Amino acid sequence: MGAGADTSPAIAPVVADAGAVARAAEVLRSGGLVAFPTETVYGLGADATDARAVARIFEAKGRPSFNPLIVHFPDAVAAAAHVDWTPEAQRLAEAFWPGALTLVLPRRTDSPVCELVSAGLPTIALRVPAHPVAQALLAAARVPVAAPSANPSGRLSPTTAAHVAEGLGARADLILDGGRCPGGLESSVLDLTGKTPVLLRHGLIPRDTLEPVAGDISDAGVLAAEGGDIRAPGMLASHYAPRRPLRLCATDVAADEALLAFGSQPPAGAAVTLNLSPTGDLVEAAANLFDHLHRLDARAPPVRAIAVMPVPDEGLGRAINDRLRRAATPPD
Ligand code: TXA
Ligand code: MG
Repeated sequence: MGAGADTSPAIAPVVADAGAVARAAEVLRSGGLVAFPTETVYGLGADATDARAVARIFEAKGRPSFNPLIVHFPDAVAAAAHVDWTPEAQRLAEAFWPGALTLVLPRRTDSPVCELVSAGLPTIALRVPAHPVAQALLAAARVPVAAPSANPSGRLSPTTAAHVAEGLGARADLILDGGRCPGGLESSVLDLTGKTPVLLRHGLIPRDTLEPVAGDISDAGVLAAEGGDIRAPGMLASHYAPRRPLRLCATDVAADEALLAFGSQPPAGAAVTLNLSPTGDLVEAAANLFDHLHRLDARAPPVRAIAVMPVPDEGLGRAINDRLRRAATPPD
C-alpha cells in the first residue's frame, strides 16, 4: 500500500445538486465512501458508527498508521451528544460553528461512534462544517460522518473535486463536486480535555482569533519541544496503550493470556479469545482492532497479558501492525 495515486480509473465527480446529495447520503448510510467539499478542504467521509466503513477510509488513503479522524455533524446539538460537553465548548461552538474549528472532548461511553475513528483514544474530535454541500449531506445522512482530508497519505490536501479524483482514483464510491474549497487549509484542532486548551493543529482559524473566546491557548508543538509531559490530560495522548502487556507474533498461547487472534486457526488454550477476522480479511481486522483490544484489556485476572497473532504486513495490515507495535511499547 503505497502513498501514490491510485492506478484504477478515476470515478467522475458529480455536481452536488439535491439529487446527488441524496444519493451520497444513501451511499454513506450503506457503508460507502463519499468525498465532499467543506470550507477547508475536501473530506473522504464514512458513517462514523460503522467500523468497516471507517476501516475502508484508511485503506483508501493508504495510511501506514491509524490516526484519529475528525467526526462531522450538522450542528452543535448533534455533536455535543457524543462527548462530555462543557460551557467552554458551548462558547467556542457559538462563536465558530459552523466553521473551521475542530474540538477534541472526552467521548461519552454511550456514543455509537466506533473506536477506530478515534484510534482507541478516549476522545472524539468534533467539527460542524459551514460549506452548504457538507451541511446538506450531513443533514440528509443523519449519521455522524468521519472524514479525513480526501488525499492519499503523504499527498497534499485536495481543494477541488478533480484533485480528489486524481488522487483517490476509484477508491471513493462517489465524489461530490462543490467547486473549489474557499479555505484551502484544514480546520484548527483544539483539545479541550485539560485545564488549558491546547492547539493540536494550526489551521484556518488562527490562534489569535480563538483566544478571545477560549482564553489562553497552549501550543502542542511548543509544549512538546519544551519537553512537557505530553501524556498529561489535555496534552497529546498520542496513541492508545492497553494496561496489560502485549506479546506480538504469538503462535501459541498460555492459560493466563488473552488471545487476539487473526485467521482461521487460532491456537487453543487461551483464557479468552477474540478474533480480528476469522477469514483473514484485513478490513474486518482493522474495524475490530481497538474494540477487541479494549475488551481483552478489560478482562479480570487470571488474564495477565494479551498475546497477538501475526497479521500480514501488507495493505491495512501495515497500519494494524504499526498500532500493535506502539501498543506493545510502554510509554517512556
Ligand atoms: O479541515 C479539516 O479538518 C478536514 C475536513 C475534511 O474537515 N479534515 C481533516 O481531517 O483534516 P484529518 O483526518 O486529515 O485530520 C485530523 C486531525 C489530525 O491532526 C488528528 O491527529 C486530529 O485531527 N485528531 C482527530 N481526532 C483526534 C482526537 N480524538 N484527539 C486528538 N487529535 C485528533
Ligand atoms: Mg490530512
